[in-house]
Amino acid sequence: MGRGRAPLTATVVHRRDEWASAMAEARGGGPVGLVPTMGGLHGGHLSLIRRAAAACPTVAVTVYVNPLQFGPGEDLARYPGTLDADVEAAAAAGARIVFAPNGEEMWPEPPATTVHVAEVSEAWEGASRPGHFDGVATIVAKLLSLAGPCAAFFGEKDFQQLAVVRRMARDLSLPVRVVGCPTVRDPDGLALSTRNAYLGPDERAVAPALYWALLAGKRAVEDGRAADPEEVAGAMRDALAREPRFELDYAAAVDPETLRIPARLGGEVRLLIAAQLGAARLIDNIPAHSPLPPADHEES
Ligand code: PAJ
Repeated sequence: MGRGRAPLTATVVHRRDEWASAMAEARGGGPVGLVPTMGGLHGGHLSLIRRAAAACPTVAVTVYVNPLQFGPGEDLARYPGTLDADVEAAAAAGARIVFAPNGEEMWPEPPATTVHVAEVSEAWEGASRPGHFDGVATIVAKLLSLAGPCAAFFGEKDFQQLAVVRRMARDLSLPVRVVGCPTVRDPDGLALSTRNAYLGPDERAVAPALYWALLAGKRAVEDGRAADPEEVAGAMRDALAREPRFELDYAAAVDPETLRIPARLGGEVRLLIAAQLGAARLIDNIPAHSPLPPADHEES
């Protein structure tokens, strides 16, 4: 053999009991990093796996397309992904265990229990996709329960999901450290997403306008003239309106933790946007920092 390393491989398990014991064994070697996914792995998912591998001796990835988080008429049936390709990509990025249960293994009987995280899950994606975050919270709670104590890595790409998972973990004292990871983008600014595969070439060409709209909002926040979050939302709406193929769902400047619209801007803010482009519903977000003083530091 030459000096090359042996090919990296991951152990694939399909049963809950096998996964729970693989995780227990892995914990013997130190903290385990967990990366929950619905498969169709792209560079965004792989960045979470690499980040987890940099922090933890063992990384486990879950691949499960969770029907509970899809509404009627959404893309559950056509959700892309092939397990072999996902396992290969996950292993190359540093994963050592892949949990890929089928529906019956995950829920031998339909769940009677739903995890609902009030308030933070109710606006934005929660309003546009009723029940979505209940489905996310319920499956993530189950995956974490099967995994045992771990550090779990989630993308800021789904910023509201990250906030919902953090709040659930805090409320329920789950034995997990939730780690948020930055959004990976194509060079033209479009955030990587499984759903980008639904875009035709003409749509893909205009898709970065969603990111440009966020940048227009960021400029409005950071030049310090906008104190009103609605003004920032307006700047994002105007920017996106220049690309008529987009159908805007929402654009907002919100508090990064509660995701509520503050009375006035000051300090850290998160800009959120969601729009339909052809067959794809795209979401994105970025941070912005207002030079105005935060509300609680305001002089009276
Ligand atoms: P999925 O959409 O497959 O995403 C899995 C993880 O990858 C999430 O934490 C998501 O935020 C992250 N991710 C996606 N695109 C990214 C990008 N461009 N940059 C960085 N991270 C990115 O999110 C889910 O699955 C599901 O809701 C799940 C949590 C697995 C529960 O079913």
